[in-house]
Amino acid sequence: MIKIRSATAKDFNEILEIFKSVIASGDTYVNRAETTEDETRAKWFAANAKTFVAEIDGRIVGASLLKPNYVDRGSHVANASYIVDTNTRGAGIGKALALHSIATAKKLGYLAMQFNFVVSTNVAAVNLWKSVGFEIIGTIPKGFKHAALGYVDAYVMFRKL
Ligand SMILES: CC(C)(COP(=O)(O)OP(=O)(O)OC[C@H]1O[C@@H](n2cnc3c(N)ncnc32)[C@H](O)[C@@H]1OP(=O)(O)O)[C@@H](O)C(=O)NCCC(=O)NCCS
Repeated sequence: MIKIRSATAKDFNEILEIFKSVIASGDTYVNRAETTEDETRAKWFAANAKTFVAEIDGRIVGASLLKPNYVDRGSHVANASYIVDTNTRGAGIGKALALHSIATAKKLGYLAMQFNFVVSTNVAAVNLWKSVGFEIIGTIPKGFKHAALGYVDAYVMFRKL
């Protein structure tokens, strides 16, 4: 059973381990593999973000964060990030986190949700976001330097809430 709850400072090390392994492969996030602990904390526990973790049997297997996409006059659009432990992928955790973010964003009064940078070759993410109502509204040509494939496109994905 997947349980999603708000993250606390105590969860940081588990989030750090998952994020480290995600950025090590250089195929999904812009962050370099050598991203420091402080930089990771600044991202995953940013003052303007709500951080959530997904647990199975008390073990953290994924995390999401929800924040305004921009300040002030852009703050009615939400932005979110997701990571799932490589060992527990394909088990519905990413989808559960995505549906939880959408519901939370609606509750908080956001009018829409936007992902600014979905790597076009990240089939798992592109399929997952489409399956929960997002569409590709733009392409950043060769916006991402993929560790194995070189420069590849990145998508802007959007859905109304
Ligand atoms: C993207 C990510 C969050 C998906 O998490 P997950 O728990 O493995 O995904 P789920 O098991 O919930 O899958 C949900 C849907 O996503 C799609 N999907 C997931 N993995 C897939 C894969 N390897 N290939 C194709 N589609 C896939 C499918 O549509 C799937 O629905 P289905 O099981 O009904 O076919 C995870 O792969 C991850 O952490 N990747 C690295 C970080 C990342 O890319 N974050 C998003 C940045 S935009």
